[in-house]
Parts: sequence; C-alpha cells; structure tokens
Amino acid sequence: MALRNIRKQGEEILTKRAKEIKEITPRIRDLAADMLETMYDAEGVGLAGPQVGILKRIVVIDISEERDDPIIMINPAITSSDGTQTGWEGCLSVPGKSGQVTRPERVTATFTDLAGNECEIEAEGFLARAVCHELDHLDGHLYVEKVEGRLYDNSELQTQSEEDGESDEEAGEDDGAVKR
Ligand code: NI
Repeated sequence: MALRNIRKQGEEILTKRAKEIKEITPRIRDLAADMLETMYDAEGVGLAGPQVGILKRIVVIDISEERDDPIIMINPAITSSDGTQTGWEGCLSVPGKSGQVTRPERVTATFTDLAGNECEIEAEGFLARAVCHELDHLDGHLYVEKVEGRLYDNSELQTQSEEDGESDEEAGEDDGAVKR
C-alpha cells in the first residue's frame, strides 16, 4: 500500500466526470487500499477516485470514531433520498475550510464491492452526508459549490466557538473540520 497525492481545488481533474469501473482488477483493489490509507493518514472521512488523480467511479468512506469501519463503493449511485439536513462540511481537496451544506437526511445507494457483489446501503445523518459528498466528486463537483453563506477558515471557527464559550459539539466534530 502507498499514500497517494491528494489533488486540490483548482486542479482540472476534480471538475471531470469519473468513468465507470468495468472490471475489478488487482489494480482497482490496490487503488482502494491506497485510498483508504491516504484517507486515514489525512484524517478524512471519505475520499473519491478523482481526489487521488484517478478518474474512476470509486469512493471510500469511514465515519467511525475508531477508524475501523471502511466502506468501499465501486460505481455507486443514489437510488432514493428523503428529508434534509444542514451542517458543516469540509474536504481534503479544500484544506482548512468548512461550510454549511444542505443534504438529504437519508439516502439509499447501490454499489459494487471489491468482491464484485452488488450491494445496497441505507444511510442517514452524517453517513448520508458523506455518501452525497463523495458521489458529487465522481461527477466533478465540490461541496464549495453548494455552500450556504460563505466558506470559513477552520481557524476562524475555532476562534468563534472559543469566544462564544461553546463546546466542540456546537460547531460539529472537530470544529466543523470534517474532511472528505
Ligand atoms: Ni471531498
């Protein structure tokens, strides 16, 4: 396994539509392992193929505290969604920033796993947000396009919550610095 270079906002690959994966080759399995390692190393909760310079429809997500519950989704698609939630998002491709984004509260997504099985996931709350954020990457979209109000510097949010005497909870996990 190896760490991959995370592409940053402004790089053209992040604006392109990623291509379907037709066959799960050893190369795709290596890519998935590298993406997980890169995501954990960067302390993110999700990473999509284009973010490591690979224009393929693959995402990895792990929202667990223990960092031991990875989901690897190949050719994922959202098949239904309902409700709304508004909350903080960040992105490993937009380091040091956070913004408020409205997403569905619940989504159902289909995908293929690394063994080639057709899977379905019902996600809600934070996981639903992560799925939506990562799938947007596969279509060339960053959360910053959907931010309500403005984009904040994470240092700014920390200062704000300290001034307000708020706990970390108020600004979201890690002061809103949740990175995908
Ligand atoms: Ni992201």
